[in-house]
Amino acid sequence: MNKNDIVHLEIIDNGMNFEGIARKDNLVVFVPGAIIGESIYAKVIKINKNYAIAKIDEMETQSRYRVKPFCEVFGKCGGCSAQHIEYDMQLLLKNKLVKNLLDKQKLEVGKVENTIGMGLPYYYRNKVQYPVRSSNDGNTKVGFYLKRSHNVIENNCCYIQNRVIDMLAKDIAQYLIKEGFLGYNEEDGTGDIRHILVRRGYHTAEVLVCIIVNKEELVYDSKLRDVLKKFAKENENIVSCYINVNENRTNEILGSKLELVYGAEYITDLIGKYKYCISPKSFFQVNTLQAEALYLVLKNRLNLNGNEVLFDLYSGVGSIGIFLSENVSKVYGIEIEEDAVKMANINIIENNVKNAEYIAGSVEDKIVEFEKRNIKPDVIVVDPPRKGLDEKSIEYILKFSPKKIGYVSCNPATLARDLKMLSVKYNIQTVTPVDMFPHTDNIECVSVLKLK
Ligand SMILES: C[S@@+](CC[C@H](N)C(=O)[O-])C[C@H]1O[C@@H](n2cnc3c(N)ncnc32)[C@H](O)[C@@H]1O
Repeated sequence: MNKNDIVHLEIIDNGMNFEGIARKDNLVVFVPGAIIGESIYAKVIKINKNYAIAKIDEMETQSRYRVKPFCEVFGKCGGCSAQHIEYDMQLLLKNKLVKNLLDKQKLEVGKVENTIGMGLPYYYRNKVQYPVRSSNDGNTKVGFYLKRSHNVIENNCCYIQNRVIDMLAKDIAQYLIKEGFLGYNEEDGTGDIRHILVRRGYHTAEVLVCIIVNKEELVYDSKLRDVLKKFAKENENIVSCYINVNENRTNEILGSKLELVYGAEYITDLIGKYKYCISPKSFFQVNTLQAEALYLVLKNRLNLNGNEVLFDLYSGVGSIGIFLSENVSKVYGIEIEEDAVKMANINIIENNVKNAEYIAGSVEDKIVEFEKRNIKPDVIVVDPPRKGLDEKSIEYILKFSPKKIGYVSCNPATLARDLKMLSVKYNIQTVTPVDMFPHTDNIECVSVLKLK
């Protein structure tokens, strides 16, 4: 097999990014857009010692799960790589992917449950963030980044974002451009508006707008403030409007300085019967309905008795701890973002929760303090970022040896790795994939472990 050859391939699996996987001449061949079960002719576009990448040239046998992608920028924008696969098949493939990763670690799992999908898997994202980019010729674009690039493509409609805020984000950007503000120019670091971020409470319809600007002086620019206030007043769902400053030439969207220019400090949303206050910077699950499904699985599988002490690690705005607070005697949470801890403490009051305490700091630093205070958990819930748990936190979790652990993960590869380490002392009872991000290659999982 050589570069530019047209080769015949049988697709035997789909990988982490939904790419088709085939074998040829003792090499693994990755074929973006191909589906398990398909026979294809493909052009080899890259080849090295361990693997090759090929592009579909002609379809011999098409999968019966292949569907027409619904989005005009499918394949161009880096977002929904699974749109060409029927939704029920996406759920099966996500389940298979999780099982493969657990098998690779030779883990014994009581049960890997079916992926919990959405009834209507569209328009689910409660948060929209669009880059605003002006080029040297004065042309401004608002949209998504092209796959593996920082060039922006415009799209009429994103089918996985809430319709109201998808349109609102673009409207604000156009409004600002009409008023003479420029989009950010990544090449020379000039321009005014870098990003538009809009969040919306799924159950409350409350909207928060945050404009990310390129220079601190824009925070005090009376024209920008007046334009934003006028826009907010004309859109009755806008409850809160902020300006955020990011002067760094990095990929981070939000900078540190945040200034409220209109309305309330935060918006609210509900997960189950609990109300959560959300600010521009705090983490909140982007799919509210599936977050509730996930927390319910966690609650049911943990089967709490009301007398247990719970550690809610990587607690964000306290969502999980507050959701479980009625079923335990005490909740202690740790979260690194001070702003999120501030929100967690407001959320405790808003929900009349009297048995929760949230601490700002990193889990690896703060978990030690519980030992010093002689506080022992009966149950630990962790919900770390994609990189998973660090060794020190795992060491402490094993030392505390709670009766049960609930592990919520947005990365099944690091989940499998961490479960392997925890399995020295724990039986892995269940792993439940929850489809928090339909049509994308991301999958969330909840796992419940019991002390051996
Ligand atoms: C996936 S979110 C989970 C938030 C929350 N449990 C929820 O369901 O909304 C992960 C959280 O971990 C926080 N975080 C990241 N690294 C951390 C660390 N080393 N120690 C404590 N918190 C951390 C992030 O700020 C974020 O709020």
